[in-house]
Amino acid sequence: MWGPHKRNTAGTTGRNRKISKQRRGVGDGAPVSRGELSAQARYRRRVAYARDDIDLVRDKTDLVELAAEITKVRRSGRSTMAVCPFHSEKTPSLSIDGARGLYHCFGCGKSGDVYRWVQETQGLDFAGAVEFLARRAGVTLKVDPQAAKRRSQREQLVEATERAVAFYNDRLKAGTDAGPARAYVRGRGYDVDVVDRFSLGYSPSAWDELVKQLRSEGIKEDAMYRAGLATRSSRGSLIDRFRGRLMFPIFDLRGDPVGFGARVLDGDGPKYLNSAESPIYHKSRLLYGLNWAKSSIVREDTSVVVEGYTDVIGMHLAEMPIAVATCGTAIGEEHLDLLRRFSERVVFAFDADEAGAGAALRGFDRSVPGDLDLRVAELPEGKDPADVVAEGRVDDLERAVTTSKPLLGFRIERELARYNLDEPEARAKAVRSVAGVIATHPDPVTRHEYAVTVSKSTGVELAYVEAAIRRGNAPIDEAPPPDEPVGEPADPATLRPTMSPPERELLRVVLANDARLAEVELGRDLFGTDATRAAFDLASGIVAGLAPGDPPDLGSALADDGSEASALLMGIALDPTPLAEPTDLVRLLQVAMIDRDIAAVRMQLQQTDQSTDGQGYSDLLERLVALEQAKRELRSDP
Ligand code: UTP
Ligand code: MN
Repeated sequence: MWGPHKRNTAGTTGRNRKISKQRRGVGDGAPVSRGELSAQARYRRRVAYARDDIDLVRDKTDLVELAAEITKVRRSGRSTMAVCPFHSEKTPSLSIDGARGLYHCFGCGKSGDVYRWVQETQGLDFAGAVEFLARRAGVTLKVDPQAAKRRSQREQLVEATERAVAFYNDRLKAGTDAGPARAYVRGRGYDVDVVDRFSLGYSPSAWDELVKQLRSEGIKEDAMYRAGLATRSSRGSLIDRFRGRLMFPIFDLRGDPVGFGARVLDGDGPKYLNSAESPIYHKSRLLYGLNWAKSSIVREDTSVVVEGYTDVIGMHLAEMPIAVATCGTAIGEEHLDLLRRFSERVVFAFDADEAGAGAALRGFDRSVPGDLDLRVAELPEGKDPADVVAEGRVDDLERAVTTSKPLLGFRIERELARYNLDEPEARAKAVRSVAGVIATHPDPVTRHEYAVTVSKSTGVELAYVEAAIRRGNAPIDEAPPPDEPVGEPADPATLRPTMSPPERELLRVVLANDARLAEVELGRDLFGTDATRAAFDLASGIVAGLAPGDPPDLGSALADDGSEASALLMGIALDPTPLAEPTDLVRLLQVAMIDRDIAAVRMQLQQTDQSTDGQGYSDLLERLVALEQAKRELRSDP
C-alpha cells in the first residue's frame, strides 16, 4: 500500500533533463489530480441560453462601438480600422465589419464575432459574454429547455463517471485487494504521483461493488447504466461492467471524465476493455490525452499519435506532453479533424514492426488530408513509446519525433522495399504499386515531387512514373502503352503562390519606407525565393536615400522594366490596406527561414548513412534539434 498521498505541486515527475523550457513546462497542459479536475468541472458554468436570444443580442450589438470603448477606432466609409488590442501596434491593422459584427486583425491574425471579442478582451467565458452583451442590449435571456435538459443529462453521466474515477482511484491506492494491481503499476514505473496525475484506478474483481458505492452516493441506476459503468445481469440486476482491471479514465476535451480503458490484471477476457458508446463517450471523436496535451500541441505545433494509454503516459513521463491515442479504435477522419484544430503537424509514433507500421498506414488508403503534415516517427524495432521510455531511452524517443518522415514518403519507402529492384519486372510492379499510393495525395506538386523520388530510386523513367500515378492504382493490364503522351506538364508557377502573405506584407512595409523599419533587422535571406529576394533588393534600393518614414515617389521609382521584381512590387504598391507590424512580419519570416533550413537538413539526413558516417549523421541531428529549438523560441517570444 502507498503511504499518505503527497502531490508534487509542480506537476512534474521531478525529472531533470536538458530540454527546452516549453517542453519542460508541463504547466497548464499537465494532468491534474482528480480532486482538481472535479473542482474545475464544478466551477465551469454550463448555461444554455436560447439560440434565438443569442442571435438577437448579436444583432443588437454594434461591434464598432464596443471596440471604441477600449481602443482607437477609425471609420472610413463602410470599413472600420482599429488599433488591435491583441498585439502591440501603433497603426491600426484590425479591420471591423460593423454590419456583420466580425473582426479580423491583419497583424496578428485574431478574428471572431462580438462574443469572441468580449471573451478575449474581458476574459469571460461564452456564457459570460452573452450575459454581458445581453445587459448592454437590454435583452432578457431565456434558458433553452431542450439544451438545458441535454446538459443536465450530460452532467449526470459525467458526475457518475467522476464518482467511479474516484472510487477506482481510492481502491488502487488503498484497497486490500489491490496489491497485485499496485505491483503491476509499480512495475510499469508509475509512482503514486503518476497514478494521481492520470487518475488511474483499480476495479475490484467482484459483482457490484461500484454499483453499490455509487448508489450509496445517490447516483441513479439509470445514470450508471447509461454512462456504461454498469450492465444488467441475466437476472436483471445491475452489475459492474469493469472487474479486476487497471482503470485508465478517459477525459474529453474539456477535461470531463467520460469513460474508461481497462487493462486486464487478473481474470480473463480481452487485454483492454473500453467503455461502450454512450451519450458522453464517442470513440470516433475522442482522443485519450488531448485534454492534457492541447496547449502543448499548440505551442509545439506538433501532436504525436501513439497507440494507447500507456504510451500517452510514457510520453508525459518523457516530458513530451503532446501525445494522444485513440481509445481502442483505428484513427479516423474525425480524430484528425480534432487534431487539426491544434496543430498542422501530426506525427504517428507506433512501434516499428510490421503490425505497428500497418496501423499507421491503415485508414489513409483513399485519402490523404492535404492540409495536415502527417509524419511517421521511426521507433526502435518492436518497441512502442512506453517501452522506449521504460528503458530510459527518452532521447531516442525525442529524436524519433524530431526526425519523423512524411507519411507518404514512409509508405513509399516501405512499399519499394518489398521488391527486388534489380529486375525489370519487379521495378515495373513496384512503380505501379507506389503510384497508387502517391495518387492519393491531393496536391499535384507533391505528387510530382514523389514521382521524381521514385524515378530516382527505381531507375524507371519519370514519364512512366508520372503516367502510372495518373492512372492511380489501375490494374496491371490497363497499364499505359509506352508511347502514351505524358500530358501537359502543369506550369509550376501557377501552382505555387509567388510569395507568402508575410513576404508580401513586408515588401509593402519596405516600399512605404515605414518608420518602424528602424526596429527590425532586415535581410534578403528572410525571403524564400529568388523573385522575392530580387523584389526586396529593388524596394530597398528605392527607399535607400530617404529619411525613415518618408514615403518614396513610387510613380517615378517603379518603372515597368519587364523584370519579375518590378512586376511584383507594382502589384502590391497600390494596396491601400494598413501596414502590419514589421516586427511580427519579420518574426514570421524568420520562422519560415528556419523551416527552410530544417527541410534542407532533413534532406541531408536522408542522404547520410548512419552506419558509414556516424559523425556526420549525429552532427546533422544536432543541427536539426538546434533549429527546432530556435523555432520554438521564436514562436514563444511574446
Ligand atoms: P500493449 O499491448 O503494449 O499494452 O498496447 P500494454 O498494456 O503496454 O501491455 P504489455 O505490458 O506491453 O504487454 C499498448 C496500448 O495499446 C492499447 C492500449 O491503450 C495500450 O496502452 N491497446 C492494446 C488496446 O486498446 N487494446 C488492446 O487489446 C491492446
Ligand atoms: Mn506495451
